[in-house]
Amino acid sequence: MTQNKNQFDPKVLIALDFADADSALTFVAQLQPNACRLKVGKELFAVAGPEFVKRLIDLQFDVFLDLKYHDIPNTVAKAVQAAARLGVWMVNVHALGGKKMMSAAKNALHEMDLERKPLLIAVTILTSMEQQDLAEIGLQGTPKENVLRLAQLAHNSGLDGVVCSAQEVAEIRELIKDDFCLVTPGIRPAGSDVNDQKRIMTPKQAMDAGSSYLVVGRPITQSEKPTDVLNSINQSIL
Ligand code: C5P
Repeated sequence: MTQNKNQFDPKVLIALDFADADSALTFVAQLQPNACRLKVGKELFAVAGPEFVKRLIDLQFDVFLDLKYHDIPNTVAKAVQAAARLGVWMVNVHALGGKKMMSAAKNALHEMDLERKPLLIAVTILTSMEQQDLAEIGLQGTPKENVLRLAQLAHNSGLDGVVCSAQEVAEIRELIKDDFCLVTPGIRPAGSDVNDQKRIMTPKQAMDAGSSYLVVGRPITQSEKPTDVLNSINQSIL
């Protein structure tokens, strides 16, 4: 796995689900890079772009660029290289793009002469998809069976880890014994709003289950005291 550049290795990845760069930067101004990392997804990247990501990196934050690449191997390999040149800490692809695509992405990073390369992880099955949705696109079996198969495929393709539900962590750890990075959304501190998440875990439960990193959005971004919430999450998982 790629060397971790942040000596504090914060476990909380804050999902910057803001509609524009100004709102995101106003929020980020309250944060310290030793207490959290930041996740930039498709909406914010579409409005604020690479310059915004560079700005976060200049502020010393590790950035997870969550663009879930899914395309032909050559295109994904080039996209992952472009993300690496930006200086992001983590980038992801869709495991459903297949082994050739994932291996091409990994090899493309391997060939780069960079001091620090991003961790490359895969999304397995989107948590919004239920068994019926999978059947409609021709995937047999339960969501969990598909998650486990695709996590194994991502590992076989040389990837550093997967995004998964904290509920799936134990079984993935059972299946893949190596050092494998498990990034889990659907995290809610005890007593906070569940929003539209279905199967949630507290930060401590998720870390105890074997998560490597926790993606937390609204419980922090929508709070009146974001740093208090972040600090209390960090305390709870010490
Ligand atoms: O606000 P909340 O904590 O629910 O945000 C979770 C973040 O994790 C969002 O950016 C969401 O898109 C992302 N995510 C998720 N479930 C997945 C994959 C990503 O909630 N399976």
